[in-house]
Amino acid sequence: MAYDNILVETKGGVGIITLDRPEALNALNSALIADVGQALDGFEADENIGCIILTGSAKAFAAGADITEMAPKSYMDVYREDFITANWERVSQCRKPIIAAVAGFALGGGCEMAMMCDFIIAADNAKFGQPEINLGIIPGAGGTQRLTRFVGKSKAMEMVLTGHMMTAEDAERAGLVSRVVALDDLMEETLAAAEKICKLSQPMVMIAKECVNRAYETTLAEGVRFERRMFHSTFSTEDKAEGMAAFLEKRTAQFKHR
Ligand code: HXC
Repeated sequence: MAYDNILVETKGGVGIITLDRPEALNALNSALIADVGQALDGFEADENIGCIILTGSAKAFAAGADITEMAPKSYMDVYREDFITANWERVSQCRKPIIAAVAGFALGGGCEMAMMCDFIIAADNAKFGQPEINLGIIPGAGGTQRLTRFVGKSKAMEMVLTGHMMTAEDAERAGLVSRVVALDDLMEETLAAAEKICKLSQPMVMIAKECVNRAYETTLAEGVRFERRMFHSTFSTEDKAEGMAAFLEKRTAQFKHR
């Protein structure tokens, strides 16, 4: 399938989506968001895909929602079309693991889209920001909520209220990204992480992801209860039997994803 605004490829069990609107620093317009949604649908339906990478260019992961597209819209336009809610949430609804490989600018909706992924590996030139306040709006794809959960109130407030950008190093220190790598190594390092995940039991990875995400949605007691139930359920699987047998027999597990 050919897309106008993204490049889609697979490397083994890894599905890679590269945002590709270089003329606008990968600004996220509705056509691009639709493309990302379709590519994710394809990867989720393909049982050979165990992990997805979302990335951009060396200069920009994405410089935000497309301002040219937003400028003429009125309140009634965005309300009636359910702007953002209609299709942006697809990334956060992905059941398979999805890693953001971020180089360059991840601003506004770009930062928000990276935060919808399961974890972020950043190149040393990455810059994260929520500069919407400069445009007379506020973040609208979860920026005030997810960023605050990642970096805490003070740093989130400074970024949201002033448009201050965080460097990759600051982002790692604040817990926004899992680690920082040299720009030239970004895809190699991210692919290595994705390939590691692909070798594991796909349903266990999906259950683990669901459990971690539950931590954002519930109390500690309820979250632990949910985890315990899911943990018990993993004992019913062929992959649990294989994983433990392989350990005891000192061999590599051959998971069947069942
Ligand atoms: C549309 C954009 C864009 C955007 C950059 N471009 N960001 N077009 N929407 N968000 C375009 C520029 O207009 C320009 O096009 C080209 O990309 C290159 O950008 P330059 O500004 O020339 O590059 P540079 O000088 O390197 O500056 C990079 C930059 C700057 C600092 C990232 O482009 C910038 O501030 N962009 C806007 C960032 C932003 O405000 N993001 C939040 C958007 S609101 P031409 O045709 O002139 O060459 C948002 C709302 C989220 O995201 C709410 C829900 C999702």
